[in-house]
Amino acid sequence: MGKDYEREDILRNMRISVIGSGYVGLVTGTGLASKGHDVICVDKDKTKVDKINEGEPPIYEEGLKDMLQEVTTEGYLRATDDIFEAVKNSDLTFLCVGTPSLPDGSIDTTYIEEASKDIAAGLKEKLGYHVVCVKSTVLPGTTDHVVMPIIEEGGKEIGPEVGLGMNPEFLREGVALKDFMEPDRIVIGGSDEKSIAVINEAYEEFDAPVIKTDLRTAECIKYASNALLATKISFANEFALLCEEVGVDVYDVMDAVGKDHRICRQFLNAGCGFGGSCFPKDLKALVDFSKAISLKPRILEAVLKVNEEQPIHAIDMLTEEIGRLSGKKIAVLGLTFKPDTDDVRETRALPMVRSLLQRGAHVFAYDPMGMENFSELVDGIEYVDTAIDALKNSDGCVIQTAWDEFKTLKADDFHRMKSPVIIDCRRVLNPEIEKEDVVYRSIGLG
Ligand code: UGA
Repeated sequence: MGKDYEREDILRNMRISVIGSGYVGLVTGTGLASKGHDVICVDKDKTKVDKINEGEPPIYEEGLKDMLQEVTTEGYLRATDDIFEAVKNSDLTFLCVGTPSLPDGSIDTTYIEEASKDIAAGLKEKLGYHVVCVKSTVLPGTTDHVVMPIIEEGGKEIGPEVGLGMNPEFLREGVALKDFMEPDRIVIGGSDEKSIAVINEAYEEFDAPVIKTDLRTAECIKYASNALLATKISFANEFALLCEEVGVDVYDVMDAVGKDHRICRQFLNAGCGFGGSCFPKDLKALVDFSKAISLKPRILEAVLKVNEEQPIHAIDMLTEEIGRLSGKKIAVLGLTFKPDTDDVRETRALPMVRSLLQRGAHVFAYDPMGMENFSELVDGIEYVDTAIDALKNSDGCVIQTAWDEFKTLKADDFHRMKSPVIIDCRRVLNPEIEKEDVVYRSIGLG
């Protein structure tokens, strides 16, 4: 690719619009505004827009409130529900809308398509060069096959007038701002050198290696990253079952395995599996996509299968300890897919609770933040105000989320149970608790 632009074409303090103000969009907008860019966040939801303009994030992310307040007060960030105005008044647009799963597991690009149409309409009135950059997780080929034709239909010529980009996010919910401000790497895919340069300019103040590539490679990097992280978890979970049989602790094994810098210890915590809005959805989409292009996604299917079976394994462990569950009172501690969030999407608590109910148990659940959301997923369980309330007179308990407050539970708290049987699915407690007259079982602890 020849250099067909001058660096001076690219503004230093860029005018950036961000479409979709969920956790990815709002964190991206706030982070870029903190680096001195002029950012407009867009959302259809007027209440969200008003909150953002008041410096009040509509979602909880560590550190976001302070930074958002700073950038809104200093005038670096504002929000609007008018996408046309936002596009018209910016030179780079990040597309951060959701890509949910359809019932068959395939990816739903409706929001991407709708937003692209709006961007194309906004671009009609835009003077000067503009880059449209997809941040949403999309399957290989989506940016050039779905987004590009819609933008072209709007009348602008891809290349001289508009550039296309793909800049995947690697943000963990809860610590998304930290992940954004201190990235391991920044991946920038582009339709040409100029679009890559414009996106790169937005990240100039960030200290991380930048991988400049084409659109499809960028799309693949995101899926490969999530799929490999999920694979590590399912691997640890499968190995955990072996460790239980041979009488060793999978955490000891993985601690040593993870010391190898080629492997690394992260995402090798065995437990009841991965949930959330990303891993399960992305893996299912990848399986579906692979099959659609006549491939056999053997590893990915196995990763998902292990993940489905893991919560049931925890309930089987409980049954081994207390016998048939029919009529028994079971405490479920933790309903969210991970701690420090109220998000229950694809939480492993759901298959667990369903299995408990199927086996006739009475479920008493407690979660510091997730009870309201969880109550929309399943009927027939009771919610209580504290972990101790759930434990009182119960025949067994399952710890599903590694909330800090569960780490402080003592043997005495479990002695309030009718039978102090603990199934610790996230290695929240010290296994030594077993010495204090409780039955302690944990996934992968032989
Ligand atoms: C994940 C990725 O970590 C981010 O890099 C990515 O950007 C994001 O998806 C996305 O695609 O948007 P997230 O879903 O927020 O982030 O949560 P994680 O912290 O990765 O945890 C996912 C699930 O894996 C949780 O249920 C967690 O409990 C489980 N997990 C994680 C384990 O069971 N074991 C581990 O060792 C690590």
